[in-house]
Amino acid sequence: APRVIIAIDGPAASGKGTLAKKLAAHFGLPHLDTGLLYRATARALLDTGERLDHVEAAVAAARGLALTDFDEARLRGRAMGEAASVVAAIPAVRTTLAKAQRGFALRPEGAVLDGRDIGTVICPEADVKIFVTASPQTRAQRRALELVGRGEPADYAAILEDIRIRDERDSNRAVAPLRAAPDAHPLDTTALDADATFAAALRFVPTA
Ligand code: C5P
Repeated sequence: APRVIIAIDGPAASGKGTLAKKLAAHFGLPHLDTGLLYRATARALLDTGERLDHVEAAVAAARGLALTDFDEARLRGRAMGEAASVVAAIPAVRTTLAKAQRGFALRPEGAVLDGRDIGTVICPEADVKIFVTASPQTRAQRRALELVGRGEPADYAAILEDIRIRDERDSNRAVAPLRAAPDAHPLDTTALDADATFAAALRFVPTA
């Protein structure tokens, strides 16, 4: 089969991560959750006691990441998503992490990447671009269920507030703001579960 690059973007808890995993499994493609790179950068900074807005330290932390060794359990929490969106607003951090993401996208076997700027910045030539959205309330409900599933405390109102803050910061930053590429297929998952989202997305992939 010809190699295919699938770019999936969207806001926090839109369902893009679950969709990316399902598409990658279905087509036998490697998958990169690019949010983990920003989360791991923030984690590394906090672990060394640095401030999140310390540009040189943040770039050094981004350079030091290995794509393979993410300790997802330590990166998934609410606080780390918020911290990630702070370091993600630093242009030099984005440039550093972009190299690794582009390298992954251009692997000979093809790839699925999910994030905020895959279709616009990281891989504008992707074969299939999907921009996943859902209402803030639906996304907050999903995040709350996910946290409960992991045995973490879940305060719906606080999660909804986090989502609003993160949407605002990710959409309004100067570099690589959260935007649909002009040629992205919009996919609103507010009324769709994971299987229905996957079925809808399959129709956008020509080889399906
Ligand atoms: O997708 P996730 O919630 O794990 O991403 C955490 C944060 O990392 C986002 O809120 C965003 O600020 C940043 N991010 C980004 N570009 C990406 C992926 C994530 O700026 N491609």
